[in-house]
Amino acid sequence: MPHYLLIIDRPEIMNKDFELFNRIAHKLLESEKETGVVKPVPFDSLKTLLDLDLEEEAINDEQFEKALTDLVLNTPRTATTLFFNQLFGGRQSKATLGELLAVFLNNSMYTYKVGGPMIAMEKNILNKVGELIGFKTETLGTIAAGGSMTNYMGMMMARDKYDPEFRNKGKQVPLVGYTSVECHYSVAKNATFCGIGRDNVKKIDSDEHGKISVSALETQIQKDIAAGLRPFFVNATAGTTVMGAFDPIREISALCKKYDMWLHVDGAYGASVMFSDKYRHLMEGSHLADSVTFNAHKMLGTPITCSIIVTPHKKCLYDSFSNEASYLYQADGDDINPGKISLQCGRRNDALKFWTMWKAIGTKGLGEIVDHEFHLADVARDYIRTNSDYTLYSFDDSINICFNYKGISPEMLCNRLYEEGKLMVGYGKFKGDTFIRLITVNSGNSEKEILNLFKIIEEFADTLS
Ligand SMILES: Cc1ncc(COP(=O)(O)O)c(C=O)c1O
Repeated sequence: MPHYLLIIDRPEIMNKDFELFNRIAHKLLESEKETGVVKPVPFDSLKTLLDLDLEEEAINDEQFEKALTDLVLNTPRTATTLFFNQLFGGRQSKATLGELLAVFLNNSMYTYKVGGPMIAMEKNILNKVGELIGFKTETLGTIAAGGSMTNYMGMMMARDKYDPEFRNKGKQVPLVGYTSVECHYSVAKNATFCGIGRDNVKKIDSDEHGKISVSALETQIQKDIAAGLRPFFVNATAGTTVMGAFDPIREISALCKKYDMWLHVDGAYGASVMFSDKYRHLMEGSHLADSVTFNAHKMLGTPITCSIIVTPHKKCLYDSFSNEASYLYQADGDDINPGKISLQCGRRNDALKFWTMWKAIGTKGLGEIVDHEFHLADVARDYIRTNSDYTLYSFDDSINICFNYKGISPEMLCNRLYEEGKLMVGYGKFKGDTFIRLITVNSGNSEKEILNLFKIIEEFADTLS
């Protein structure tokens, strides 16, 4: 039998592979419960430990299962109660189910012809998000491959609004944009992608809590106007990467109106507060934005990636992203062919995992997830504040808890905890201080797991002295 027949989509092969999936997933779940994070395999040892080589010949079923199981079981475990390393973590079961089904269906979300009801399902998500943000007119938007990309789309729309010939002729207007020193690095990177140039997106100082200084922003805008530049864009961050700070959107919006600029809110991390009655106020003024990005794969915990951009400016979205393609758009109108407003051509169905979760637990359930993460952050801060061996560097109303223990080097402590397979947590820097950055983004955790993290740190630190 030709080798390729072993992998094509015949029901009996697929069913066997489902069984294999279940076996491996079950082993992983068991192992996650037992050991938490895995001890990392040194890169140079991978070759001897795992069967990663690709061969000329097919391998048998047992060899295949072993190679795949070993690979999975030795991969870092972001879903466990000991993973606090980045702005995502945990495993939302309903969202995982949605993701698996999206992969199984394998639609592309560019046309109604190929996406069918999935297009309407995605549109519902975008409309609901627009409503929660408070946009007064019809919301349009899309889902792209991560917050860096949705931020990019925001900057592109601003560029094309203020330099309309840019997309055909290249740069005509000396555009200059603004963001805070605490912003995500994608803002600078996107300035290169947009042809604006990194130096033309100015980094404005932040205050002692990590929020952009609005007075420093206005001073810089005035300087740039005097120098003959055209301010066109401000990026406000709702939930900064290190401190979890929220820039004051309403005040920034006032400057954007005064100087006629686009206001993009990078809520990739923090905009999930829109679901919480208690914390929505942190992004007060978001309805005044021209575009907002939001990652459901961070605070809400869907599988990576689910990054949304919404805007009330339908025309801008079309101006920047629509293209004719007779080989693709052969049926239905633009309003149900979202390829006309997306960054890429073929596009994964990243909406279904969010929809399955939202459908199952409702908007209230999503709010509870957010509230729980803030509660866990309070638990962590309380512990730190009542224990004199710790120094706290971060602030309330944030799920980023930045601290040091007994003055021990955070770089060394985080790296050693990782190398020894104890837990995964990272470090960050703010205004000259370096500290451990704990993120309580895994809503599957309880107070117990947060207190356990401190216990592990303390016990491990004692072994270092
Ligand atoms: C504030 C902020 N914006 C954007 C991003 C980028 O999102 P993604 O990792 O989905 O590209 C991040 C990632 O951590 C972030 O913290």
